[in-house]
Amino acid sequence: MTDDVLLACSDIHAGYGRVPVLRGVNVVVHTGHFVSLIGPNGAGKSTVLKAITGYARLQSGTVTLAGTPITGLRADRLVPLGLSYVPQGRIVFGEMTVHENLEMGAFTVTNDRVRADAFAHVYDLFPRLAERRTQLAGTMSGGEQQMVAIARGLMIRPRIMLLDEPSLGLAPRFVQIVFETLRMLKAEGLSMLVVEQNAAQALAIADHAYLLELGRNRLEGTGTELLENPETRRLYLGD
Ligand SMILES: Nc1ncnc2c1ncn2[C@@H]1O[C@H](COP(=O)(O)OP(=O)(O)OP(=O)(O)O)[C@@H](O)[C@H]1O
Ligand SMILES: [Mg+2]
Repeated sequence: MTDDVLLACSDIHAGYGRVPVLRGVNVVVHTGHFVSLIGPNGAGKSTVLKAITGYARLQSGTVTLAGTPITGLRADRLVPLGLSYVPQGRIVFGEMTVHENLEMGAFTVTNDRVRADAFAHVYDLFPRLAERRTQLAGTMSGGEQQMVAIARGLMIRPRIMLLDEPSLGLAPRFVQIVFETLRMLKAEGLSMLVVEQNAAQALAIADHAYLLELGRNRLEGTGTELLENPETRRLYLGD
């Protein structure tokens, strides 16, 4: 079963400048799967996403998307290949409206019909954004801004989306909305690689999950396996 491997990081070593952070990480996302990356602060979870999208320096190892090497390509080069990256921190263009933010996400989409479909899709998925399409993104609540960031990433109709801590710092109600959104996207068949502090909820959705520690793979399994693993429970689920 290697033919449905969509994204694969093989033995990646990466860091910033000369500082090594990842020391041989392997991560695979099969088509249609929701894959969670969990682990303690500083384990290198964000760096895995940054190494895939060219923001951290890859020292060795390979990254492939649908079998094609994408090692070292920057995020803007990955967009046409169907990979969307939503970094940590709900980054929106605050002085632009919701609709303009989505337009920015669709700037590579030149076909009018594809673009119209993308707008229809995200406004259908996020009725709240449809209601507020003319509101300046900077004036929205944290949870709404996270929706804008996710929706913007969906405008290219990606085949895979990388999300870094989508629920971080949100009020419980918005955390629930973010996880409902992730479930909806999974139900639509989108492949996802998601870094989450909220391990219990992320593992509950995950088809497969990786626990990283000190820049290395520590444990992996189905979401349920890691949820039931005594070590994960003790370290991350507060048992
Ligand atoms: N831009 C950077 N320059 C230098 N070191 C960095 C940079 N970004 C991250 N690091 C270091 O890399 C290590 C891994 O960081 P990373 O952000 O990948 O961890 P993480 O698992 O995402 O942690 P968290 O749960 O806190 O977000 C940390 O020791 C961090 O200090
Ligand atoms: Mg991080």
